[in-house]
Amino acid sequence: MPRGELLAALGDVDGLYCMLTDRIDDELLARAHRLRALSTMAVGVDHIDLDACTRRGIPVGHTPGVLADTVADLAIGLLLAAARHIVAGVDYVRRGEWRTWEPDLLLGVDLNQATVGIIGLGGVGQAVAARLTGFGCRVLGYNRTLRPEVASLGVEQVSLAELLRDCDHVVVAIALTPDTRHLIDGAALAAMRPHATLVNVSRGGTVDQRALAAALKSGEIGAAALDVTDPEPIDPNDALVGMENCIVIPHLGSSTVRTRTAMAELAARNLIAALAGEPMEAVANPQWRDAGDRHD
Ligand code: GLV
Ligand code: GLV
Repeated sequence: MPRGELLAALGDVDGLYCMLTDRIDDELLARAHRLRALSTMAVGVDHIDLDACTRRGIPVGHTPGVLADTVADLAIGLLLAAARHIVAGVDYVRRGEWRTWEPDLLLGVDLNQATVGIIGLGGVGQAVAARLTGFGCRVLGYNRTLRPEVASLGVEQVSLAELLRDCDHVVVAIALTPDTRHLIDGAALAAMRPHATLVNVSRGGTVDQRALAAALKSGEIGAAALDVTDPEPIDPNDALVGMENCIVIPHLGSSTVRTRTAMAELAARNLIAALAGEPMEAVANPQWRDAGDRHD
């Protein structure tokens, strides 16, 4: 829904079911006098001002759990596509350049036996780790808090500096917050290995895209694959879109029939429950009950 229409329609709604493309901020909440519940069809809630919702006593439903495996599948697909030049290979064939088998045509970097770093050890990060054991990888993980449960997935939790220094491939799966904006900046890219692959399946804002384009151009890292960009959509003339060693796809992480259906249904159940005065199955601001000042 275009923002203008959404703002105009909000005056008499009790519940709002939104998408990650809707920015839910103070301006919007101030218009929604009756709003009692908000539910987004996404796990990431960086598009919502959670504190503003909490202050108004509005629970925010989201969709963790149901999409982790599907996003992790795509992360592995992107990692292989970038490290093994699958998209560059498709382009090469389409251009009619394939003449013969060559010993050094489009040489890539292995995923098998590689050291792979996962930044963000939530549901998606852990599902990526589980897949990597099948590739015989050594898996390093970085998370702001200690996640002892990842040891059983074979993940060694390390500092971000160690992860960037030691990994052949790095997958970003961390939630976007003010603290993680541009977590992967010029210095982080410079710390990575020259053949390294960077995959982002979190939010575009976790990576400084200008710095990434420069690093891909200068050979500071080998390749990148982005499911998410900042902004979305990315400008088709952006340097990253035109680079042979960069793959950009349009935020497809959870995009399978089964998973999008599960997300849509969970988001609906969250909203229906809250409007009935029952707990949501998954609430992003559990503290909403304590802080609410509107509905007593
Ligand atoms: C998708 O990006 C989500 O947050 O669910
Ligand atoms: C490659 O196709 C090989 O046979 O080694």
